[in-house]
Amino acid sequence: MQIFIDSADAKELAALAMTGLVDGVTTNPSLVAKAGGDFFETLKAICASVSGPISAEVVAQDYETMLAEGRKLRTVADNIVVKLPLTPDGLRACKTLEDEGHPCNVTLCFSAVQALLAAKAGATFISPFLGRLDDGGQDGMQLIREIRAIYDNYDYPTQILAASIRTASHVRDAAIAGADCATIPPAVFKSLYKHHLTDSGLAAFMKDWAATGQKIL
Ligand code: E4P
Repeated sequence: MQIFIDSADAKELAALAMTGLVDGVTTNPSLVAKAGGDFFETLKAICASVSGPISAEVVAQDYETMLAEGRKLRTVADNIVVKLPLTPDGLRACKTLEDEGHPCNVTLCFSAVQALLAAKAGATFISPFLGRLDDGGQDGMQLIREIRAIYDNYDYPTQILAASIRTASHVRDAAIAGADCATIPPAVFKSLYKHHLTDSGLAAFMKDWAATGQKIL
């Protein structure tokens, strides 16, 4: 499964890219507002540190302006993916931009039939929002399973990008359900390394090694 980071903080993303485990980045208008700074400068900085897909979202809601914004966003770098909302205009813009060779990520997906429409629009990525469904008392992971089944039934190449991830368990369950990618907030990404038995096991190994009085270097 590809690991994307859900953030618009260019500095933090550059640091996380050093792990060698980051395959891409997703941003959205709320994350851009939270990070502050100029949107285009931020995108350039992110694209300089992460070579994989970087989703940048349009803010227009009509087809023509979405196309213009999407084409402009794509001038920032070759690895920019145009993020479009799952609306009739958004899917129409997705079809046109994909036909022109611009990869698109259709966002704010909350149902399997919405994901079916995004696949038919030729989206490179579909972003089902797990956490927000869970927040509303629904089962977000069931949506991933349904989309996986539909895409496999018809061999749709659209990649499932599990989004609105809140916990390490979400990452695990999305991987089990067959999501192609997960976009993970920085704090959740850092938590994926953690297990108390790793910490206590390492401490015991170091104590025993110190008792030998030996060195490797
Ligand atoms: C996805 O691309 C979105 O940026 C993101 O996952 C939204 O997550 P949230 O529900 O935590 O805002």
